[in-house]
Amino acid sequence: MCGIFGYSGEKECNDLIFEGLKRLEYRGYDSWGIAILNGKIHQYKNIGEIKYDKMLQKLQKGNIGIGHTRWATHGGVTKINAHPHISEVGGFTLVQNGIVENFNELKSSLLKKDVHFVSETDTEVIVRLIELELLKNKSLRQAIITVFKKLKGRNTIALLSNNDKKIYAVRNGSPLVLGIATDGIYIASDTLSFSPATNEAVLLDDFDMVEIGGKNISIFNIESNQFKPVKIKKLKHQFNKIDKGNFKHFMLKEIVDQKETILFATKYLRKELLPLTDSIKKGGRVYVIGAGTAGFSAGQIAYFLRNIANIDAQEVKSYEFEQYISIVKKKDILIAISQSGETADTIEAIEAFKKKGCKIASLVNMYGTTISRLSDFEFYTNSGPEICVASTKVFTAQCAWGYLLTMTLDNRFEEGKKNLSILTKSISQIFLKSRLENIKRVANKLKNKEHAFILGKGENSYIALEGALKIKEISYKHVEGFAAGELKHGVIALIEKGTPVLSIIPSENSRDFNDMISAVEQVKARGALTVGIGNDKSSKREIFDFYINVSQVENVSSIANVIPFQLISYYLSVALGNNIDKPRNLAKSVTVK
Ligand code: AGP
Repeated sequence: MCGIFGYSGEKECNDLIFEGLKRLEYRGYDSWGIAILNGKIHQYKNIGEIKYDKMLQKLQKGNIGIGHTRWATHGGVTKINAHPHISEVGGFTLVQNGIVENFNELKSSLLKKDVHFVSETDTEVIVRLIELELLKNKSLRQAIITVFKKLKGRNTIALLSNNDKKIYAVRNGSPLVLGIATDGIYIASDTLSFSPATNEAVLLDDFDMVEIGGKNISIFNIESNQFKPVKIKKLKHQFNKIDKGNFKHFMLKEIVDQKETILFATKYLRKELLPLTDSIKKGGRVYVIGAGTAGFSAGQIAYFLRNIANIDAQEVKSYEFEQYISIVKKKDILIAISQSGETADTIEAIEAFKKKGCKIASLVNMYGTTISRLSDFEFYTNSGPEICVASTKVFTAQCAWGYLLTMTLDNRFEEGKKNLSILTKSISQIFLKSRLENIKRVANKLKNKEHAFILGKGENSYIALEGALKIKEISYKHVEGFAAGELKHGVIALIEKGTPVLSIIPSENSRDFNDMISAVEQVKARGALTVGIGNDKSSKREIFDFYINVSQVENVSSIANVIPFQLISYYLSVALGNNIDKPRNLAKSVTVK
């Protein structure tokens, strides 16, 4: 899940590359490095957060260079393992995003040839293989092509060549795009990282090899062995600045953004949804896929489709698609949910459904991504950049879009729009000072607890799972979300005095209300600390030690019910002193299997 950023053009690019890596830091933040060409290759590498220091200030300036921010897959977090990896003999330096799946086989064959390694990375194997090809009097271009074809797995590499004064890059599976600015050419893992400079992009396909010298570009596909025209695409959006505003962390800013982002995701006109709804009506089963948080929004969307529009819809975790693919039929429809549009598990699932002849719809937050380009129907959550590794505003945007799609299928588009507007007001009330104070009190109650449980049922069962993930991935505490009905089939054995159990309580007229209340009474009888989330007019208010009020809105209150968990995760993690926006071990876009 690393980030690649490069530049070639008229401008001095040291700071351009530094800023580009800062914008890519969400992709991986173990270590990083920059290489600049000026007479020779000058490199700077460091571990930890991307920040300026005296050594970096001393790095030779130049107007062509590459940079990389790493999420370690092979080898520890050290300066030696940080990218770029240089070849003195070859006169180039190289960065990589992905995993060389045949790394061990390739490395052992090189070791048998007494090739010397300085790092523990799979990346350095690529460098040494290219060096061996150069010894056969191949051009660097030819050497790269030969070696890249030997690599198994989803890999993207970029090289800075001193001999050719060029950047070379080849992509396969891991994202890579070009930005075309008047002053020069950008090459990066996403369009957001060069967005302040340009919204003109060249989207690359797998096995496209790019050569950039000065402001000149050539694209050669190493599978078809053909040069390709440079097709410039104007992106719909340009983000000139990506900042936290007055917030201390991106996470809190993005949680509060939800006052508006629900509506950005559902600003579609009915006629824009009809091509997909028509296909669904004519098609077979609807599979909704995603991973992590997007897997839970996929579940929520499938819930809406089944329970509001009576559609045969099934949510599938992207990484589990193989167990379903044998029953998938050509007339089935796939809806892929992804914030980044680059999740390897989800891309692989889409490719498998495409092979079955299925139509593909996608809901993505970033522009110019692989998943959108694999789709027959492209939709966007339009939430703006989501920088915090933990997804918040995009989750609710995904669910809201799925609700509007469902209401359109049920010929209630206008009613759906009205309910979403009411939902936005309900969400805004959560941020009232008194309610935030109450949420902070609940968060503090969890501070010294190692385990907590979140109960949900029906429309709130995916919210319980997502709420648990939110708290886990930032506070590092073990929080388990599960269907309330599961409680007495085993989990209740874990409940003891003081165990926090947070339960999502639907409206009293909901079919799930009584079951939820009896689940809470069962844990309370065993000493649990009970927290309710939902409409606090509940007639059973007295069985809760704490109650977080969320006004319920017809059919969509589940979307609002997740926000207290986002806030609990935030306040708890701040109290614990954790890194809020870049939690340990995680990356925002999981572009490797
Ligand atoms: C979100 O909080 C998580 N960091 C992670 O589970 C994420 O949702 C998952 O990796 C899917 O990413 P995507 O939405 O970009 O496909």
